[in-house]
Amino acid sequence: MNEMEASMLNPTPDVSDLTRFIGTIREAETPPAQMPAAVLPLPEVLCKRYKIERLLGVGGMGAVYRARDLLREQYGDPDPYVALKTLNEEFAEYPDANALLYSEFALTSRLRHGNVIRLYAFDVDPFCQRAFITLELLKGPTLDQLLDERPAGLPWTELQSIALPLLDALTCSHRHGVLHGDIKPSNVMLAADGLRLFDYGLGQPSKGLLTGLPRLSRSRISAWTPRYAALELLNGEPLTASADVYAAACVLYELSSGHHPFSRLTARQAKAMEQDKTLTRPPNLPPHCWEGLRLALAFDKERRGIDAAGLMDAFRDPVPSLWQRLLRR
Ligand SMILES: Nc1ncnc2c1ncn2[C@@H]1O[C@H](COP(=O)(O)OP(=O)(O)O)[C@@H](O)[C@H]1O
Ligand SMILES: [Mg+2]
Repeated sequence: MNEMEASMLNPTPDVSDLTRFIGTIREAETPPAQMPAAVLPLPEVLCKRYKIERLLGVGGMGAVYRARDLLREQYGDPDPYVALKTLNEEFAEYPDANALLYSEFALTSRLRHGNVIRLYAFDVDPFCQRAFITLELLKGPTLDQLLDERPAGLPWTELQSIALPLLDALTCSHRHGVLHGDIKPSNVMLAADGLRLFDYGLGQPSKGLLTGLPRLSRSRISAWTPRYAALELLNGEPLTASADVYAAACVLYELSSGHHPFSRLTARQAKAMEQDKTLTRPPNLPPHCWEGLRLALAFDKERRGIDAAGLMDAFRDPVPSLWQRLLRR
């Protein structure tokens, strides 16, 4: 099977956390390892409206820029800045590329939640034919940047203040039939006004929903990030809400302990080494959360008997018992 790293441009030095594409859009020869994929030079102004100012970040598929919305500026908006996401050169040249970005737009814009990134518009520049999305411009560290600064993990109150909005955003997505498909620390940002889950670029509608969306050839575009991919995804099974829950559980374990639950191993490698049997509760994590988190980390989806809402409940403060309430009086 042909396999290639989609891009080496992620600022995170750990290339194993890049989204990996299997059986990619084009049967391409593998690019030289560690070589950054060049980002197509975009025109300075897209659609005669968005002036690109600087690159904010790159991931497995896209490049995100800070841009100035000249129309808003013309009407005196004191804050005319937006983030502008386009696919990087490697993907932009594929016939499905614009549809891939449109799918991200269509899925994300179904969601209205304070902790899900807000998108403004999808557009295609008539001259260079590049599709792009404009979205709210965020400022703040992504969770992988936070983890770099806090290698011992976060204390409980801080962890809880991240876990609850993240799981609430995921619960909202699943309730609206949107599967994220690539939950990992670099796709969550702690913006000044609260957490945002973003990058639904590998998202999919739940079965039977959004049938009008352009059907992408998912057999040709099957992607995941190895360390956060549930076992069933590695085995070629379709994305489900449960796979998102596994990935979110890996992120939460990592935030509480400072390290991934199964070190640098994929679920398949960790299962072969029976690492689930030796998994222990991170000291920062209160005992009442552990049962739920461990369940969410189950390798076999049949045993992963918890959904995003259930995991969120596990991270809430337990209701004090009658005795505890009486004693507090
Ligand atoms: N709305 C935004 N505001 C500011 N920076 C952003 C925004 N969206 C993405 N970024 C930055 O760009 C990086 C890549 O964006 P992402 O949507 O994850 O692209 P990809 O699909 O390529 O992974 C992010 O990790 C983040 O650093
Ligand atoms: Mg990303």
